[in-house]
Amino acid sequence: MLQVGSYSIGLSDVSVALAVCLLFVWVHRLNSRALPPGPRGLPLVGNIFDIPSKGSNVVNAYRELAVKYGDVVALNRCGQTLLVLSSATAAMDLLDKRSAIYSDRTASPLVELADSGWPFSIKRYGDEWRRCRRLFWQYFNPNAVVSYHSIQQHHAQDFVRRLLRDQNEVGDEARLSITRAVFMATHGVQDEEIAREYLRIGHTVPDVFMELAGPGTLLVHFLPWLRHVPSWFPGARWKRELPRWRSGMIGLLEQPFRAGMEAMTKGDARACIMTRMLDASPVEGVDADENIHFIKQVTSQVLGAGVDTMTETLLNFFRAMALYPDVQRRAQAELDAVVGTERPPEHADKPALPYLRAVYKECLRWNTFIPFGLVHRCQEEDVYREWRIPKGSLLMVNVWMLLNDPSVFPDPESFRPERFLGESELSDDAANPELFVFGFGRRICPGRHFAQDLLIVYFATILHIFDILPEGNASGSSSASSTIGFSLRSRSKAQETLI
Ligand code: HEM
Repeated sequence: MLQVGSYSIGLSDVSVALAVCLLFVWVHRLNSRALPPGPRGLPLVGNIFDIPSKGSNVVNAYRELAVKYGDVVALNRCGQTLLVLSSATAAMDLLDKRSAIYSDRTASPLVELADSGWPFSIKRYGDEWRRCRRLFWQYFNPNAVVSYHSIQQHHAQDFVRRLLRDQNEVGDEARLSITRAVFMATHGVQDEEIAREYLRIGHTVPDVFMELAGPGTLLVHFLPWLRHVPSWFPGARWKRELPRWRSGMIGLLEQPFRAGMEAMTKGDARACIMTRMLDASPVEGVDADENIHFIKQVTSQVLGAGVDTMTETLLNFFRAMALYPDVQRRAQAELDAVVGTERPPEHADKPALPYLRAVYKECLRWNTFIPFGLVHRCQEEDVYREWRIPKGSLLMVNVWMLLNDPSVFPDPESFRPERFLGESELSDDAANPELFVFGFGRRICPGRHFAQDLLIVYFATILHIFDILPEGNASGSSSASSTIGFSLRSRSKAQETLI
């Protein structure tokens, strides 16, 4: 104990004072660190004119930013920091290894204004998101997805059967088929008209989801006070769109559940995720009404997150097969050797089809349709390398760059499933696009096992029956698809009768 005048100072007082000083120095050093590099912005608005928007060539513009400033680029949008990560190391270091603080989503006022906060893919990181995700995972973990195999096989065969009759709208047929497969798994609904109605509602709000899940292109995301401007205000077109967005998002939540309940009442519903959830005890800590709301959110989320993603991958497959006939022939030869010509392909064939599994990986990598994944938000001030990452920063991964990095995927523009094969089997150590395409950390896509199973059985069933030709090369009875640049030709009359 030290005596200074009339004060006595104990050791604990000294330690507290020291700790306060150290904290002060640490906070000061944290704040004095620079942000990651990026283009110098204008006063007040920052880099909003440097940030590529929808109309421009977004992928190239972000690549140029990475070439100029490096794999972590900071952009300022009216005071809000947007970090663009363009290397696997940066993406994994932050979004995966530090996912405890990098798993939030954007806090845009649009979510509330458009009543569109129900999909848990855009929910803030917290208890509600955790409950939805846990419930979802019960039905989509690798063991659980096996129970959807027969539905997936049935719909793959039905899709091919319909294409044998008419190939004019392959894209629309693909979307309808996948919607019906998902509807059957989630809501036990078979009625084609219900799936068509769902797609019609989805068409009324194609833009709202990406606006909310991406970095956002509207000023209202980073200047929340703009929510108060009247709808006639110049530039407030989004406000005039709100009623359409709101009714579309509510429709996407309510219509599937209503259809499932009606099918149950009529006795038409099959056992499905919705019926299993209704039979199970309610989600912990919620009352009956809230529990129904959880069931709606989770089951509708499957449709919302699964239909477009799987349809786009399937269409990518058609294009790749049309452009790369050698790949197609090799996949067909593998199928013919394993499956033969007496029965259609099944899920059980998957382990014996390494080449087809490599085709699936390459379909995820080549021409990816989600070049920037979904945006994550940082919940706490952080330091990465020598930089400061402010609390509330948004982070976006340039997934397209990762998937087209020639040092990882040589000749990235070419569709080459061989890149994933060792001697003859699927090589584990080859760079795996699934590590990037499905996102990162605690937000990684929980539907990825379902997607893989569905897509591989669709690929197998299609290639077993059809040759896929570049548009204009069709012969015989097949007609070219005018919208997506390929056409189909039946491989053999005998095989057609199998499905
Ligand atoms: C090839 C198909 C698919 C691709 C490429 C894909 C990709 C993605 C990506 C990039 C994310 C964001 C991850 C992140 O924030 O880091 C995501 C999230 C999500 N996906 Fe998928 N997905 C696919 C299929 C599916 C399917 C079939 C389902 C449903 C069965 C599904 C359900 C979800 C859900 C619920 C989320 C939100 C997760 C969360 O925020 O916690 N996805 N997906």
